[in-house]
Amino acid sequence: MDKSEAIRRIEELRKVLRDNSYKYYVLNAPTMSDYEFDQTMKALEALEAEFPDLVTPDSPTRKVGSDLDRGFAQYPHRYPMLSLGNTYSIQEVEAFAQRADKALESGFTYCCELKFDGTAICLNYVDGKLFRALTRGDGVVGDDVTANVRMISNIPQTLKGSGWPRDFEIRGEVLMPFEAFERLNAEREEIGEAPFANPRNAASGSLKLLNPQEVAHRGLWCTLYHIPSQSVSYETHDAALSAAASWGLPVSDLRRICHGISEIEDYIGYWDVHRKDLPYATDGIVIKINEMALQTTLGFTAKSPRWAVAYKFQAEQALTKVVSIDYQVGRTGAVTPVANLEPVPLSGTVVKRATLNNKDWMDQLDVRVGDSVYVEKGGEIIPKITSVELSARPSDSVKPHFPDTCPDCGSALVKEEDEARWFCPNQDGCPTQIKGRLEHFLSRKAMNVIAGEATVNQMYNLGLVLTPADFYDLDARSLMLLENWKEKSVKRFLESLEASKSTPFEKVLYALGIRFVGESTAKELAQHFGDVDSIANASLEDLRAVGDVGDVIAASVYEYFRDSRHLAMIERLRAHGLRFSTAGPQSKASDALAGLTIVISGNFSISRDDMKAVIEANGGKNSSSVSGKTSFLLAGEKAGPEKLRKCEELGVRVVSEKEFLEMIPSREQAPAEVKEPTLFDL
Ligand code: IVH
Repeated sequence: MDKSEAIRRIEELRKVLRDNSYKYYVLNAPTMSDYEFDQTMKALEALEAEFPDLVTPDSPTRKVGSDLDRGFAQYPHRYPMLSLGNTYSIQEVEAFAQRADKALESGFTYCCELKFDGTAICLNYVDGKLFRALTRGDGVVGDDVTANVRMISNIPQTLKGSGWPRDFEIRGEVLMPFEAFERLNAEREEIGEAPFANPRNAASGSLKLLNPQEVAHRGLWCTLYHIPSQSVSYETHDAALSAAASWGLPVSDLRRICHGISEIEDYIGYWDVHRKDLPYATDGIVIKINEMALQTTLGFTAKSPRWAVAYKFQAEQALTKVVSIDYQVGRTGAVTPVANLEPVPLSGTVVKRATLNNKDWMDQLDVRVGDSVYVEKGGEIIPKITSVELSARPSDSVKPHFPDTCPDCGSALVKEEDEARWFCPNQDGCPTQIKGRLEHFLSRKAMNVIAGEATVNQMYNLGLVLTPADFYDLDARSLMLLENWKEKSVKRFLESLEASKSTPFEKVLYALGIRFVGESTAKELAQHFGDVDSIANASLEDLRAVGDVGDVIAASVYEYFRDSRHLAMIERLRAHGLRFSTAGPQSKASDALAGLTIVISGNFSISRDDMKAVIEANGGKNSSSVSGKTSFLLAGEKAGPEKLRKCEELGVRVVSEKEFLEMIPSREQAPAEVKEPTLFDL
């Protein structure tokens, strides 16, 4: 390649890398697979090696990608936050080990770790307390996400044990475990929001939320894996991590000390298979020289340490063909393009469909019917089309036409500003939306009535139901009209419908299907206002005062209750006996704590969440910090010293668990919410 060609190609590669780095780090919506990105970076590195005078300090090969976001204050990193050299080839790991052997005296060890696939975080503890948390940013300055990080349950606010330096940094990854990711995406789809493509994007998107209360609901999790050597004095990296673990910091114990390449290869081989059993995403193995002194000897390049390398697992990919593209209308009217694929096996399942998210995404991919496309699962749950094999594009292929009208009812589609998706505005006449709302109303997390899509479809087609209130007018005679329904199925359905009348208010509110009101928002609204009339009469400002309710949700709730058809339907449901307030024997155990604002701290004989539920069930209000308004601090074992000190300062009473239990009717009567323990609670 001659120089002018090299200049052109280098600029081209840099542009591709910068564009994708922005989509990856800032938009949390990459359009290139990690593998393609890494290969493009390697191509640029090779060209820059061949033409060293074309290297510039701002080349993506010299700089880490930036996640800086205007919504946050920024602070400089004490030590630059670097990336890792990575490879997909075992031979290159072998070459790394050979170089280490040559450069270092014998007797050193490697510390092999999982490469966690989340978003990097740097925590600063001062005097044993979490002082500041920064994202990687551009490696030099990071976004201050301290308030959000305080909402991550396994990050301690205060260290335990002893021996921690007065002021030190520890770095790691914020992850969203698969379970939380699936829950979040299900909730987003329920409320008509685009799902996150993978847990990594979900984690970094969540860490950048502007409302910390919302972060608390996201189920984020953290694992720490690096203490800059300037911060502590331990002989080995492994010893530093063990010390950090003894201070209560979350450090993975899946790391292994390896004595040479064959042990490293065993570790890689083991995790390439078993990583599928982990509850969070990993995308490779990190191999680090374990001795701190040797790390210092080897030092850093501009972008990464010389003492570590990442071996990345190849994301599983498959090549298949797009057979057709469907445009699906959801219950909120959002139109989602979905590609039907020639079935192809991938990571243990057969992939037949892949979402194309929205029109912009489709345009970016430039996907057409008949195209050969790469589908990838990697650590991701939803299969996605990562790229189109343009060389195999049929010559007669045509760009797909995103519909202008609703594929179901024919209404002209509309798009709101700031929305990537197109919507069918015909809420009351579009059969798919109506049926979607009816199904949602009966669904398990809502009214939990035994009836699925097919039943609702039949009922709708026979003209038996149009709004949820119509379900409660159904009688045995009309239900017998349904195909294959006999007395037994009719009886089962009517019993299930009757049982649904005692569904708690928060679930009824969720069942109404108000746009953007998912399960947790419905719960917050129900708890805050207590009954539907108070919500219906609330001003926008009143609504915005509720936990995670922002402008968008507030506007949606406000509008919902300004529609007289909705109010009439609620009246009908109320007349049928559905619960429209939190009061009542099932949601309240007693009023023993009415009017009291209680802060809890420490560990109890039941989980903290359960304890909060007990407080609420007995009429009390939970609050997170001690203030003049606090009625008392309910202190369990290891209650926070800071909270206790504040109580002393403000003269707030401290109550033990035993004393507390004496204040309320016996515990069996209080409906504590039962939560399944997750791996992280154990
Ligand atoms: S060590 C000085 N260890 O991978 C380098 N990084 O692709 C310190 N990562 O920027 C990083 N798991 O965000 C290290 N066990 C692990 C890791 C890990 C994930 C991330 C980290 C890093 C990126 C590089």
